[in-house]
Amino acid sequence: METKRALITGISGQDGSYLAELLIQKGYEVHGMVRRSSRYYIGSDVGASADDFIPRHKNIILHYGDLSDFSSVDRIVRESKPHEIYNLAAMSDVRVSFDVPEYTSDVTGLGALRVIESVRNNGLTDTRIYQASSSELYGKVIETPQKETTPFYPRSPYAVSKAYAYWMCKNYRESYGMFISNGILFNHESPRRGPNFVTSKICRAAVRIKNGTQEILPLGNINAKRDWGFAPEYVEAMWRMLQHTEPDDFVLATGETHSVEEFLVEAFSYVGLDWKQYVKIEPHLFRPAEVDLLCGDATKAREKLGWTPKTTFKQLVQTLMEAEMSHGANKA
Ligand code: NAP
Ligand code: GDD
Repeated sequence: METKRALITGISGQDGSYLAELLIQKGYEVHGMVRRSSRYYIGSDVGASADDFIPRHKNIILHYGDLSDFSSVDRIVRESKPHEIYNLAAMSDVRVSFDVPEYTSDVTGLGALRVIESVRNNGLTDTRIYQASSSELYGKVIETPQKETTPFYPRSPYAVSKAYAYWMCKNYRESYGMFISNGILFNHESPRRGPNFVTSKICRAAVRIKNGTQEILPLGNINAKRDWGFAPEYVEAMWRMLQHTEPDDFVLATGETHSVEEFLVEAFSYVGLDWKQYVKIEPHLFRPAEVDLLCGDATKAREKLGWTPKTTFKQLVQTLMEAEMSHGANKA
């Protein structure tokens, strides 16, 4: 039987690294789009440069490219001729998207169009595509919990770009019969989370404060509530979406919501500290428009994909803190 080929854009990110590992375990040949500046987690918790990394994994082939550059996207699609594409690359930082709205629209919005248009132009009619959509689409939420039928109300340039990508994918599915599925994923975290996201920032600070190498933790809106899950479980569901009989849109979430303050309590108590003594609320860390509450209903994913999240909120914080305690020095 022919070896299955998958192309992952964003392979160097949190989800891309876990997904690449999962697909390698399943026997895939994995192609990944990387930028010159990309760093890697795969095979190493501390990261390695692209050129160091390539020889260590014979079934991972990295291609230099950029979602803002159609010729590179198209070349990578043609060279890899993937059975499955996971479009995970994005300018994924919601707050930063307010500072670089045009760039965010180009990469996170138009980037998705470049991927699906390349697949269409090259006549890859059997290629299945996963689009990394987001719970940020729900923004100023119309109902709680949010599910596939909940109307969108995006609240940031990032979310508006993801809405564009979501609808383009849906349109290509309906117009050209392409197999494109949107995963509407609620926040999911791991020890590989980028340092600017709030869970990573809090865990790192708690450990550093405990060790005496940091004094305060500046934060923005700690009343915001998120539905936080564990990233490795979510990438498994991305794969399941592309094995499903038909393309569709699926929410992935835990169904529980917790505030940033609750996260602080758990993380700081793990190292025996009272967060109130160290957190400084900084106005510049608030967003021009905030998403106050996200809480997802993943019933459809459970019923159609057989997927349920397993890691509870407390277990998640524990996992992140344990990793931070043991790898903190490498992430400094
Ligand atoms: P991440 O860690 O921030 O990774 C983003 C990836 O995109 C990185 O590999 C990055 O490469 C790549 N990238 C950025 N700009 C690019 C460009 N112009 N061209 C090519 N690659 C580019 O994000 P993540 O948490 O793994 O999330 C994966 C996807 O799911 C993203 O689309 C995100 O918006 C979406 N999402 C995430 C969550 C979540 O809670 N994690 C929830 C819903 C949706 P470099 O290493 O070169 O920067
Ligand atoms: N990053 C950050 N830094 N967030 C802070 C801070 C801070 O200092 N202080 C408070 N927060 C609040 C934010 O205002 C937000 O309400 C919440 O913490 C979570 O912020 P992030 O961890 O940055 O994640 P996000 O929810 O904005 O976006 C993530 O999840 C989305 C899915 O809902 C990203 O991964 C997006 O790419 C993803 O689509």
